[in-house]
Amino acid sequence: MVARVIPVEPFDLVIFGATGDLARRKILPGLFHRFRAGQMPEDAKIIGSARSDMDSAEFRKLIGTALSEFVEESLRPAEMVTEFLEHLSYVHIDAMGEAGWQDLKGVLREGTVRTFYLSVSPSLFGAIAERLSLNGIATPESRIVVEKPFGHDLESAQALNKDLLKHFDEQQIYRIDHYLGKETVQNLMALRFANSLFEPLWNSTHIDHVQITVAESIGVAGRGGYYDQSGAMRDMVQNHLMQLLCLIAMEPPSKFTSNSVRDEKVKVIEALEPVLLDDIVRGQYRAGRDNQSYFEDVENVDSRTESYIAMKLSVGNWRWASTPFYLRTGKQLRDRASEIAVVFKDPPHNIFPNKMEGRKGNALIIRLQPDEGITLRTTIKEPGPGGMRLTEVDMDMSFADALGDSLMSQDAYERLIMDVIRGDQTLFMRGDEVEAAWAWADPLIAAWEEANQRPVPYDPGSSGPEEALMLMHRGGRRWRPIGD
Ligand code: BG6
Repeated sequence: MVARVIPVEPFDLVIFGATGDLARRKILPGLFHRFRAGQMPEDAKIIGSARSDMDSAEFRKLIGTALSEFVEESLRPAEMVTEFLEHLSYVHIDAMGEAGWQDLKGVLREGTVRTFYLSVSPSLFGAIAERLSLNGIATPESRIVVEKPFGHDLESAQALNKDLLKHFDEQQIYRIDHYLGKETVQNLMALRFANSLFEPLWNSTHIDHVQITVAESIGVAGRGGYYDQSGAMRDMVQNHLMQLLCLIAMEPPSKFTSNSVRDEKVKVIEALEPVLLDDIVRGQYRAGRDNQSYFEDVENVDSRTESYIAMKLSVGNWRWASTPFYLRTGKQLRDRASEIAVVFKDPPHNIFPNKMEGRKGNALIIRLQPDEGITLRTTIKEPGPGGMRLTEVDMDMSFADALGDSLMSQDAYERLIMDVIRGDQTLFMRGDEVEAAWAWADPLIAAWEEANQRPVPYDPGSSGPEEALMLMHRGGRRWRPIGD
């Protein structure tokens, strides 16, 4: 199968923070891939902007180097890189001052999709939005893209929303959660709403529980300053895992439009029951053979911030009453593996007594990364003579095998940036959605802070703290192993 490429409208894309890590690692390589695929129109302009005083030639050189670092060599023929770099120019702007704004205005064209990508600290969102507006650079059709973290708590998220909404309408604001740009994450919607097979079973009558795992094998060395102020709850659960939970638990929207989809997601967050501290496990990795401890990575021996979290959630609505959702995510775990497992209840009446010890039952496993795909665990008869014995097999589908490797290799950022140019907000978080997620997270964080709780230690390369296993065992359940 070959990916269909639908070119987007001509655009002027201004990237603030264009010399920063995200721009060099993700945004510009992502744009290059779209250019290579033929999706970028010939007259598209990418305007880098930052505090560094450089000219367009120097900026092109910087990005040329970034491409050789972050794009596989076989995918970047030299003449194609040169052609791509011709789309780039640079304007030196002081985000907090007055310099450069009129220069920027001068290079933008009328009647072209105008997008401002704020790959900068959230503390600059308000100042940049204001200057874009006061200098007459933002038009009613312009789009503004903002990166995570969108706030540190409800209050700061509300303040950011307020600052942006002074100058842009909600329809112009694209809040990135890069998990929504992942192929398999979008596939959750296709799986649920384009198949008639699953939806009749998608409720607490048939589903025993859901496990959502986002495990990482890397630690936080190199970004300890940010991470220690956030922890797994703010860095991963409030946004990425919450989005996965929403897509699994939401009601079918009436249409596939950005607001219908996001309306349903907000309802899931609002339906979450308060979580007891006993149903949350927070961990911190120890030092291992090849890695420092969390304390050393963040250079804070007194840190009480978690690098691992597991929790049991209940969605208080008709569909999900009595089906728990277990979430876990952490750093320095045994593998990089993310998946959602929907575990079904046993049949209501068993006609095969004692035929299978340790049966785990039906489960639909959606693998998000790596090796994106779907597995359906099914019970069958064990082949051979000797009576009726049961066994379990996995009906396994890898998307790369079924559809081709090249289709699966698109990075989340490529898709998300093209969606902004197309004006499709479905895969971006709406203001009320982010606020609802913080309104849910804040009291939990406050509760463990008030209890002066310390995260429990766990071994690097393990599946997390023992206490997280106990959280499952208490409900008579087991986590699936992380990775192979
Ligand atoms: C980021 C977090 O949002 O997502 C990081 O800040 C995390 O801590 C990363 O490592 C995980 O993203 P991915 O796409 O590698 O699963």
